[in-house]
Amino acid sequence: MNVLLLGSGGREHAMAWSIAKSDKLDKLYIAPGNPGTAQHGTNVDLSLSDFDAILDFIEGNDIELTVVGPEQPLVDGITDFLEEKGHKVFGPSRLAAQLEGSKKFANEFMKENRIPTAEFESYSRGEFDKALKVIKSKDEYPVVLKADGLAGGKGVFICETEEEVENRLNELKESKQFKEAAQKLVVEEFLEGKEASVFVISDGKTARILHYAQDHKRIGEGDTGLNTGGMGAYCPTPVIGNRMLQRVEKEIILPTISAMLLDENPYKGILYCGLMITKEGPKVVEFNCRLGDPEAQAILPSIESDFLELMDAAASEELDQKEVRIDDKYRCCVVLASEGYPVEYEKGKEITGFGDISGDALVFHAGTKSQDGKILTDGGRVLSVVGAGDTLEDSIRNTYQEVDKISFANKYYRSDIGAKGLKHVS
Ligand code: AMP
Ligand code: GLY
Repeated sequence: MNVLLLGSGGREHAMAWSIAKSDKLDKLYIAPGNPGTAQHGTNVDLSLSDFDAILDFIEGNDIELTVVGPEQPLVDGITDFLEEKGHKVFGPSRLAAQLEGSKKFANEFMKENRIPTAEFESYSRGEFDKALKVIKSKDEYPVVLKADGLAGGKGVFICETEEEVENRLNELKESKQFKEAAQKLVVEEFLEGKEASVFVISDGKTARILHYAQDHKRIGEGDTGLNTGGMGAYCPTPVIGNRMLQRVEKEIILPTISAMLLDENPYKGILYCGLMITKEGPKVVEFNCRLGDPEAQAILPSIESDFLELMDAAASEELDQKEVRIDDKYRCCVVLASEGYPVEYEKGKEITGFGDISGDALVFHAGTKSQDGKILTDGGRVLSVVGAGDTLEDSIRNTYQEVDKISFANKYYRSDIGAKGLKHVS
C-alpha cells in the first residue's frame, strides 16, 4: 500500500523507519519530513495546516493510508476532513483528540467515567480572579495550573507559593503565546509519585498496549531546569511492573476506550497515557492523542509486529484480529540538542560521525537539514540516538557509546537518561 506520513520530528523519523520495514508497503511519502525520513521514503513539501493540499496529494498519488504524527492537525480535524472524502486515516477525530486538545474536556471525561486522575476545577478566562481566591482559601501547595488548550508542553505550571500562582495567572492572561490555549484554565491537585507513559493503539473498540516508557522532560540533569519536548526516554520502565500494567489496563485504558465508544466519540489511533504511579495506584496526568517524542524513538524499535499493519488494522476497525509483539530488550533514547534549547540556540552547525554508529544502534533526525551534501543542525532537538541492551544498564551504556560518536558544535545532551529507572531497580 502507499502511505503518507505527516510530520517532521524525531518521532516521525522513527515512524518512517518502522513503516519502511513492512512487507505491506509500496511507497512511503513523508510531509514535510526531514533528512532522516528521506532515507525511508520521499519527502513532500506540504504544510500540515493546508488540508486541501494534503487531500490533493493523497488523491494524486493513490495513498491508501494517511498516518498523522503530531497533535495539531489531529486537534484541527484532519482525520474528519480526509475521512469525509473517503480516505483512510490513522489518528483520532477532532472530537476524540480533545482528550489532548482540551485539559478541561479530558478531566471532565475522566471524572464522569471514574477514571483515576487529579482533583480539579476549571475556570473561564474571565474567572482567573476567582481561581486565585479559591487557591488562596485552600492554601495547599504545590498546586498545578494548566492552560486548557495545546501549548506545546509549555502550558503547565507547578506552583509552590501563592505569589507564584499570581505571577503565572497574570502570565497566562497577558501572554500572546497562550492566547488560544488559555481561553480556559484548569487548576489541579498535585499528584505525587513516579511518572510513566503507556502507549495504546485502538480502533475505537479494541485497545492493545504497544509499550510503556519513561520520559525525561526537563533540560537539566536530575530533572532540573526548564521543561522541554523531552530530552530522552527509555523502555520498558521498571516503574510499571506486570501487575501495575494490568491495573492501568483495567482502571484506565479499557474504561477510556469503552466510555469514548459509548459517548459516540470512538477513539481510533494512539492513546498516550501519561501517568503518575501514586501510593493509591495509577492516575492520569495527561492524555495525548499521538506517540510521544522521544518515547516513539525508543518504543518503535522494540515492536516486533508489523507496525504499519497494526495502524492499518486500527484505521479499518480490525484491531481485534491483531496482536502486539514486543521484544525483550531495553532501549534508551538520548536526545542531542543545540546548546541553549529550549530558549535560544544557534543553527547551521555541521554534524559528523553518522558513519561510525554501530549496526544495532539507531540515529533519528529531528532538527536537521541537508545542504551541499552535509547534514547541518536546524532546530533545538537535533537528533535522537537509540541503543538496546539485555538490561536497562546495558542499554544506557550502549547508547552513550554511540552518543559520543556524533559531533557538532554546541552539542548538548543529558548524561542521566535512564538513571531514574536504574534507581528503581536497585
Ligand atoms: P502535562 O502537559 O499535563 O503532561 O504536564 C506536564 C508535566 O507536568 C507532567 O509530565 C508532569 O510532570 C507535571 N504535571 C502535570 N500535572 C500534574 C499533576 N496534577 N501533579 C503533578 N505533576 C503534574
Ligand atoms: N515526550 C512528551 C511528549 O511527546 O509529549
